[in-house]
Amino acid sequence: MLNIQKCAIIGTGFVGATTAFALLRSGLFSEMVLIDQNREKAEGEAMDLSHCDPFVRPVNVWAGDYCDLVDCALVIITAGANQGPNETRLDLVQKNTRIFGSIIPQIVRYNRECILLVVANPVDVLTYVALKLSGFPPERVIGPGTVLDTARLKYLLSEHLEVDSRNVHAFIIGEHGDTELPVWSSANVSGVDIADFCRSCQKCGDMACMKEIYDEVKNSAYEVIQKKGATYYAIALAVLRIAEAILRDEHSVLTVSGLVSGHYGLDGLCLGLPSIVGRRGIEQTLDVPLDEGEQQALEKSARALKEVIDQLEL
Ligand code: LAC
Repeated sequence: MLNIQKCAIIGTGFVGATTAFALLRSGLFSEMVLIDQNREKAEGEAMDLSHCDPFVRPVNVWAGDYCDLVDCALVIITAGANQGPNETRLDLVQKNTRIFGSIIPQIVRYNRECILLVVANPVDVLTYVALKLSGFPPERVIGPGTVLDTARLKYLLSEHLEVDSRNVHAFIIGEHGDTELPVWSSANVSGVDIADFCRSCQKCGDMACMKEIYDEVKNSAYEVIQKKGATYYAIALAVLRIAEAILRDEHSVLTVSGLVSGHYGLDGLCLGLPSIVGRRGIEQTLDVPLDEGEQQALEKSARALKEVIDQLEL
C-alpha cells in the first residue's frame, strides 16, 4: 500500500539536496528518504534538513536504503554525473545509463507501484532508460522534460514584455537540450498573440528579439554552469511543481518528458510535450497545434534523441 505522504530522493548532490529542501518547505510530504552511494552525504543532508523542523511543518527525513522505498508514492532520481562546463547533456548518456542500470533494478525490487520522476541528464534518454529497465507503465515514468526550459522562456519573455511571467503562456518542447524548440505560433500574453503584444510593447516591434530570447533559454544551463558550476534551484522547483501536480492530483498541463506513442507523428522515445499530469502520472499528452517549422524542428529534436536511444543496449 503506497503512502502518498512519503517520497524518496536518490542522489543527494546539488540537485537532490536542493530538491529535498524545496519539498520539505512545501509540506507536500511527511516522510522523505534520502539515498546516496555516499552514505555520509545522505546522512548529513538528512540531519541538516531535520534541523529545519521547528521552522516548517515537521517532515521525517532520513538517510535510508532501497528497502525503505517500499511504500513511497514518488521516487525522484537525481543521481548521476553532472554536466561539466564543456559538456552537453547528451555527453553524459553512457555514464548515467550505467548508473541507472544499477539504481532502477534496486527500486523495482522494493516498489513496483510508485511514480518514477527522473531528473538526471540527459533527462529524455534516461526517462526512456528508466521506463525500459523498470517495466513500469509509461504514465508512471516521467522526466521534468522542458518544464524548466518553459519556465526560463516565460521569465525572459516577462522581462522583455514587462508583464507578469504568470500571464505569459508559451512552451518549449522537444529535447531538454540543444534541439529544444519554442512554440511561438500559440504563445500569448493572457490571450493576446505574442507577436501582437510585441508590436504593442514598442520594445522591438517585431519578433526578432524572440530568437535572442530562445537562444538565451537554450543556453541558460551552460552559462550558469560556467559561472557557478551547476544549476539546482530552478530545476528543484520544477521537480516540486511536478510533484505537486501528481500528489495533489491537479491535472496540470506541464511539458514533462514521457513516452511518446504517435503524438506529432513520433513514436518510441521520451521528450518534453504539453501533458496533463495528475495522481496517475501522465494522464494525456496534448496535441497543441504546431506550424510547419515547429513540426519540423520537433521531428529534428526527436531524431537527435532516437539516434542516442538506438545506440543503447537496454
Ligand atoms: C538545467 C539542467 C537541469 O537545464 O539540465 O539547468
